Order: sequence, then structure tokens, then C-alpha cells
Amino acid sequence: ADRPEAPERQDAPVVVAHRGASGYAPENTLAAVDAADALGIEWVENDVHRTRDGVLVVLHDNDLKRTTDAEQVYPDRAPWAVKDFTAAELAKLDAGSWFGERFAGARVPTLTQFLHRMERNRQKLLLEIKSPATYPGIERDIIRVLGRSGWLDRSHVRSRLVIQSFGADSVKTVHSLRPDITTGFLGTPAVADLPSYAAFTDQINPSYATIGADYVAAVQRLKGPHGKRLRVNTWTVNKAADAVKARDYGVDGIITNFPDVVRDATS
Ligand code: G3P
Ligand code: CA
Repeated sequence: ADRPEAPERQDAPVVVAHRGASGYAPENTLAAVDAADALGIEWVENDVHRTRDGVLVVLHDNDLKRTTDAEQVYPDRAPWAVKDFTAAELAKLDAGSWFGERFAGARVPTLTQFLHRMERNRQKLLLEIKSPATYPGIERDIIRVLGRSGWLDRSHVRSRLVIQSFGADSVKTVHSLRPDITTGFLGTPAVADLPSYAAFTDQINPSYATIGADYVAAVQRLKGPHGKRLRVNTWTVNKAADAVKARDYGVDGIITNFPDVVRDATS
């Protein structure tokens, strides 16, 4: 008798720890990098801003209120925008207590510190340029810091780094400054517009709420600037059932605060 066909098995998507394993440790801190590593997760996403004195730092919001104690430490510095503080001032802030007392004393890391910790853990970075319009020239600054830390060396620039942004111009700038860097555009461009994105980005990274299998396939039909098919990493998927759906849509990667949950559901 004919054997029933085995169900088609989708390759497990790459799991990316969103702001580190931010379901388990304060987002965008070294503790969140280590929490991802402890779960065996290689890929970490982060968000990069720039201080008043030009230092690149890792945190999500444009201001310090939600994830640090800036309002207590600097009560007269409203609206506590990152761009108005020096790196030395930021270094005094507690970026862990809001998440849990056991993380008291966690700092807002500089990008350099973040890279060193990831290097030590042998992890891979999906770096987001946040609010590029607020920080003219930040693409060049990021490339300089990555270069100094060895992250642009030929041996691994293509294997352990992706730079993404919601700002298409920022992604274009990165691509033109350093065509060897893998790039990602955050968003869900119309299918008709995808070919113009494929000129400068290797990945289209859309919100999970905006996609289905047809959209993922439409992206993956195109080739990016490095001659490979475009990849799709979707965000932010925290529930096992949604992770399974995203996998079944055919995404290449899933960005999540709970990387163990997503890995267990999709592998
Ligand atoms: O990596 C994608 C995701 O992080 C984009 O949204 O607001 O969490 O930076 P957000
Ligand atoms: Ca982000």
C-alpha cells in the first residue's frame, strides 16, 4: 500500500533575542546578552543611539525614562532625551532595577561594551539604528566602532552582523558606505515596491501583524545586493502559537523576547 507522505517540514527559523533575551533580563543590557547566551541563542538584536558627546549607546527609547532611573538622578533634565546626556552621565544610571531588583546596577552599555560581550560569547548581532534622523552621520559612527572592534573583518563581517533600520535612507547609507555589510529594512513595503528595496537591502524585516505566507514568498522571490534571495525576519513574536504560524509562513527568522519559547515551538 502507498505510504502516507510525511508532512512537509519547514526548516526551523533562526531565533533572534530581541534587545537580548529581554523577557528574562533588562532589555539592551549586558545581562540580556548573557541571558540569550545562557539559553544557547546566538543572534541578538539591539537598538543604537548617540550621546551628546558622540558615544554610541545601546537602549531602545529616545529618552531614558522607562528603562533607567534618570528622572531621580537628574530631576531637572526633562525630557531626558538620550541625545542631551554625555556618556559619563549615562554611565551613572541604573538600567536594571526597573526590571527586577536582582538586576540593580546594570548599566546602559556603550556599543563597544556590547560588542565585546557578544564577541566573548561568540554571538551574532542584528544591530538596529534607532531614530537616524535625530543623529546625522550615525551610520558612519557605527561603522567606525564596528571596525575598531573587529566586527568588519573580512572573515566574519558577512556571517555575524546585520544592520537594520526603519529608515530606508539610513539602510541605503550603510550599504553605500560599506557594501560588504548585510543590511535589513524594518517594515512591510508594498510588493510592487520591493524591487527598489532589493537594490540596497538583504532583508525585509516586517512586523508579524502585517504578514502572511504570500508576502513572505513575494519577498523571498527577489535577490538582494549580494545576489542572494532576500530574507525575512519578523518581530516581535512571543507566543509559541504565533511562532509556529510565522514558521509556516516561511520566514527565515523570528525576533522574540522569549527565544527559548520560540525555539522549542519551531524546531
Ligand atoms: O528588530 C525589530 C524590532 O526591534 C523593531 O521594533 O520598536 O522593538 O525596535 P522595536
Ligand atoms: Ca529594535
